[in-house]
Amino acid sequence: MITFDFSGYSTDLIGDKGIALSDIEALAPKTQSAHQTIMEKRLSGEIGFYDLPLGREVAEKVKQTAAEIGHKFKNVVNIGIGGSSLGPKTAFSALKDPLHNLHSEPRMFFPDNVDPEYMHSLLSHINVSETPFLIVSKSGTTAEPAAQFMIVLDLLKKALGNKYKDNLIFVTDPVKGVLRKLARNEGIRTLEIPPEIGGRFSVLTPVGLLPAALCGIDIDELLSGAAAMADIALREDIFENPPYLYGICHYLAMVKGHNISVLMPYANALYDMADWYRQLWAESLGKKNSLDGRSVYTGQTPVKALGATDQHSQVQLDMEGPYDKIINIMTVKNYRNDITMPQVMDDIPEVAYLCGKNMSELINAEAKGTMAALISNQRMTGHIALDTIDARTIGALFMFFEAATAFTGYLLNINPFDQPGVELGKINTFSLMGREGFEDRMQMPAKVAKMSFEI
Ligand code: PA5
Repeated sequence: MITFDFSGYSTDLIGDKGIALSDIEALAPKTQSAHQTIMEKRLSGEIGFYDLPLGREVAEKVKQTAAEIGHKFKNVVNIGIGGSSLGPKTAFSALKDPLHNLHSEPRMFFPDNVDPEYMHSLLSHINVSETPFLIVSKSGTTAEPAAQFMIVLDLLKKALGNKYKDNLIFVTDPVKGVLRKLARNEGIRTLEIPPEIGGRFSVLTPVGLLPAALCGIDIDELLSGAAAMADIALREDIFENPPYLYGICHYLAMVKGHNISVLMPYANALYDMADWYRQLWAESLGKKNSLDGRSVYTGQTPVKALGATDQHSQVQLDMEGPYDKIINIMTVKNYRNDITMPQVMDDIPEVAYLCGKNMSELINAEAKGTMAALISNQRMTGHIALDTIDARTIGALFMFFEAATAFTGYLLNINPFDQPGVELGKINTFSLMGREGFEDRMQMPAKVAKMSFEI
């Protein structure tokens, strides 16, 4: 059971800072048109993510691949960035023990950044012969995974000679790109990312499923949860469709000037979910042009937060700062493990109330207390309540947020599936790194104002 309680967005609870039922009803033509667009594009195959959970033959192939290699290795390194890393990392941290890498194999690593210190340290602490490297890139040309792959390929060839291919699996486009070409020429094991699935919507393809299967996550359950949510997310009536309601309330929040969307799980296991959501929401909705070619400069800044930790950090701003946020708290009813505060300080009145209580009671009281306080301060506050964190729930949440994002994109009349804004930075990098054909493409303002300090 997942409950999405949106009463804390409403004028009934937070007065004129909130949204009224009539605001939602007034948007009926817009919501119907957004739903229609989704249905048409799904039917034409342009939008593929809703149907991914149904492709069980992909899951079988992933399981077979994982079974072939999984037992042989001590580590798994997922080389990919953006949508090719955040999804699998989210599933891993939600569904495996928080300290998995300290006590279990395969240890899982997601070195998505080209940070030389991190990469150096990782490669110094693993034996590449004992490690399969998943090279995940839909385009196959992204600079970061390409750079990491080169380093790894060289090490593997030195360590394993001709057998280097045994430690490589590519996850990429079925036809296009450098990785596909290499896979064909060298005979490297490869799984496919369907062409109609964009990077940030790819967690339920082999991008997310293979690392999950390799570390023992039940991918059938992940897909079942996503399939159940997809059924709900395709309902036309927005009052029967929680992702649509999430979308329309966020759209209305934007209209009211709430341009920040905070996702705050009260569970360490879900913190990476907030990170994954950050990319999904930002890259999908942050757009300059509308579908009809106007400059709209739209979007809502996603902010990730962790309860209860950030009650001692960001929540002051959420409570008393500008009315520019819509905040969603995620809670868990039954944590997979609990721990009781012993009766060791029951003679100290200031802390005695904690003795004999469970930590889950404390964290849930903190979530409840914070939500109530936000609502009293007229802050738009939603609540996503999970019974527990398991593969089914995580699959459902992936689908929930993806469907909400697509719907919000069409309410905003933008394309939620492209990312033209990241291109210029890439072109400048190619130019700086001397890529052929990009030599004179660097764009930089002539004047730079800066200060340096000798310390
Ligand atoms: O959502 C997206 O499309 C991006 O975040 C991509 O996933 C990211 O840029 C990596 O691209 P690729 O998988 O082609 O290497």
